[in-house]
Amino acid sequence: MGHGGGQHRMLNSRQVITAVDIGTSKLCVLIGECDSKGRLRALAMGERDSGDAVCKGEIRKMSDLCTRLSEALEDASDSAGTEIDPANMFFSVTGRQIASQRSIGSVTIMNEARKVCEEEIKEALENSRQISLPVNTVPINFVDSEFIMDGNRKVEDPLGLVGSKLEAVSFCVHGSSSMVENYRAAIGECGYQIKHKGDIFAALASAKSTLGAEDLKHGTLLIDIGAGTSDFALFHGNGYFDCGSIPVGCDHIANDMCAAFDIHVTKAREIIQEHLQTDDFLKEQFVSLDRSGEPRRIPSVSIEKVVGLRVNEIFEIIAASLQKSRLKQHLGRGVVVCGGGAKIAMIVKGAEKFFEATVRTGEVREIDGELSKLRDPRYCCVAGILKYGAEGRSGGSDRMRIISGVDKGLWSLITQSWGKIVESIKI
Ligand SMILES: Nc1ncnc2c1ncn2[C@@H]1O[C@H](COP(=O)(O)OP(=O)(O)OP(=O)(O)O)[C@@H](O)[C@H]1O
Ligand SMILES: [Mg+2]
Repeated sequence: MGHGGGQHRMLNSRQVITAVDIGTSKLCVLIGECDSKGRLRALAMGERDSGDAVCKGEIRKMSDLCTRLSEALEDASDSAGTEIDPANMFFSVTGRQIASQRSIGSVTIMNEARKVCEEEIKEALENSRQISLPVNTVPINFVDSEFIMDGNRKVEDPLGLVGSKLEAVSFCVHGSSSMVENYRAAIGECGYQIKHKGDIFAALASAKSTLGAEDLKHGTLLIDIGAGTSDFALFHGNGYFDCGSIPVGCDHIANDMCAAFDIHVTKAREIIQEHLQTDDFLKEQFVSLDRSGEPRRIPSVSIEKVVGLRVNEIFEIIAASLQKSRLKQHLGRGVVVCGGGAKIAMIVKGAEKFFEATVRTGEVREIDGELSKLRDPRYCCVAGILKYGAEGRSGGSDRMRIISGVDKGLWSLITQSWGKIVESIKI
């Protein structure tokens, strides 16, 4: 395996992209190739257990993390039969400081016909990005929303409209600068210096791989429940967006079981993976454990109670941070659950009950290839990072769209003039 230089690596005029997901339970590297038409194919994956190098989205042991991550990178590179180019590497970030802030950028329409041209749109969007953030906080991604004409008319596509003032509404997803730089440093320690802006918030990545046009338009809450964090993003086509991350995930369910039933954490994780993937354990009165040779039985209803409390708590905290009262009107397409949590039946059922909405498990869309792991919701995030990288591959993009209205041709013109490609969730 070699560590690529600054050149973009091409395979028969295809571009190779590498996605890195540094999670609490697993470090995952996905290599894919993107053709000139934007079609994306997964080539290979490398994975290592995170050990205790990462906790709740924070790096605890840098050198341990780098050893493990280097191995995952090498595996992926070897299996793909290609070098990894840091100029085409992208990575997810998470952490409790993740939040979003709405901002408006305005421009006065000065031309004689008072018509909105591409220039005005570009300027309004650029102005919407001029926001002041708390100290030690950096913008991670921008989610572009609607436009407002003359202070009172919401429009999806303002091109050609007549008026005197155009405003662009954007949401800035921001987080702690040291958190972002630590992820970048970890990848750098493995020999890959990412010099472009290659970070994407984990929930946006999972949304990118799993949500379609209708989901974004009619309202969807995406929740990625991992081992140590639950990341979430709420989209609605009428211009509403919110997101965040809480330091609670499936490991807390395992820890609760340890405390409640006096079992080791590995046994609790086994229960999760062997018994909680469906509701079938409730058909039996007991879940049997072999505890160092001594058989032990735990009442199924007790497990249901302990797990149910934690699951409910996760949803309570998410809903509280999303202003619960407004949630319902934004969930036309329900809730999509990704991450290891999506494999726990009580989480999916719990979400249905809690949000009173349809709930589905995230499935990766629009990535070809034979990698069976991409059918597992634990890999929605890394798949989304790959997609994000493919869409912004001419330099790394930091934007998403929740409104579909702006013509794609126009969008690419705007982005070309910025010298970077604005990504858009295809709607
Ligand atoms: N069948 C399963 N296989 C693996 N993990 C599972 C399974 N079912 C539930 N889980 C839980 O999923 C969690 C791992 O999920 P995931 O891989 O999404 O986490 P992560 O991305 O490493 O962590 P985070 O996003 O919190 O940093 C573990 O805590 C595990 O208990
Ligand atoms: Mg994760």
